[in-house]
Amino acid sequence: MTALVDRFGRRFPYLRLSVIEACNFRCSYCLPDGYHAVPGRPAPLTLAEIGRLLTAFASVGMHKLRITGGEPSLRRDLNQIIALAAATPGIRNIAMTTNGVRIDQLAGWRRAGLTAINVSVDSLDRERFKGITGYDRLPSILAGIEQALGLGFHAVKLNAVLLRGRNDHELPAWFDYLRTRRISLRFIELMQTGDNLDYFHRHHVSASALVADLQQAGWQELPRLADAGPAVEFTHADYAGRIGIIAPYAKNFCAACNRLRVTATGDLRLCLFGTSGTPLRPLLQSDADQAALTASITTQLGLKLAAHALHDGQTGITPHLASIGG
Ligand code: 5AD
Ligand code: SF4
Repeated sequence: MTALVDRFGRRFPYLRLSVIEACNFRCSYCLPDGYHAVPGRPAPLTLAEIGRLLTAFASVGMHKLRITGGEPSLRRDLNQIIALAAATPGIRNIAMTTNGVRIDQLAGWRRAGLTAINVSVDSLDRERFKGITGYDRLPSILAGIEQALGLGFHAVKLNAVLLRGRNDHELPAWFDYLRTRRISLRFIELMQTGDNLDYFHRHHVSASALVADLQQAGWQELPRLADAGPAVEFTHADYAGRIGIIAPYAKNFCAACNRLRVTATGDLRLCLFGTSGTPLRPLLQSDADQAALTASITTQLGLKLAAHALHDGQTGITPHLASIGG
């Protein structure tokens, strides 16, 4: 089996597949005016197309899949997508990132084969959560997370996008929350995208202050594992939970890149902030194209650049992360 390795020696066992562009939330940093369908836009990949895509990626060494959106749970055939991934030889981890709107369906996702779940929780304060996402859903989402802890997932993670003046003073509340719960919280530094320039300038805050606060409170950075992604993780003996920091503006962030992305309509994206995508959909119409498909993926990977150019404000073709799944 040829594994996916780029010209900088990075391996790519991890695919992030968006299964739908639509989202029902209005996160202020992503879709502040909500999702609007673009007339004439192709429909998301069908189950059959997804099946061929997964088989091809798995044949070149992909063993971890993350299902993203938009909001993936808005897809009616989500359980079938999960089951399809679970039935694909080689895929061992099936994770999903969700805003939690359908978290009451969680047990069904787990039964279908989902092994890990990431829920976006930008604030533990109900009003602030509503202010950031446009939805007063925090209580039901937190209840769903409690349920997730009892379902045997390999990992339950929460994502919080760090926003100056909106949720950057909640560390004490998070400490309380993580004291007894085996959850990994991830603080994600706000990233500039094509649509959020103004917002970015108002609310971007570097994670470095947070790291200092964590160290002050006795949290210790874990050594990075060989195949780990770009998150830096902290633990503390008094807490069951962990805290990770995803700081895309940090030096060397891209050196740990281990993931490729495919959009809901089947474009391969080598980087969240790349300047082009390669349509794989034409090669997803027949099983006869599997060899051409893997050849296309490996050829494209040869073009992957060493790092993004976000520092120069170059956000590539990504208007917002809903378009590519984060
Ligand atoms: N910067 C950082 N994180 C973002 N997300 C969405 N948009 C941005 C952005 N501009 C997060 C979501 C979700 C994950 C998929 O990406 O909150 O947790
Ligand atoms: Fe939807 Fe996720 Fe974007 Fe929020 S960040 S609007 S939940 S796609």
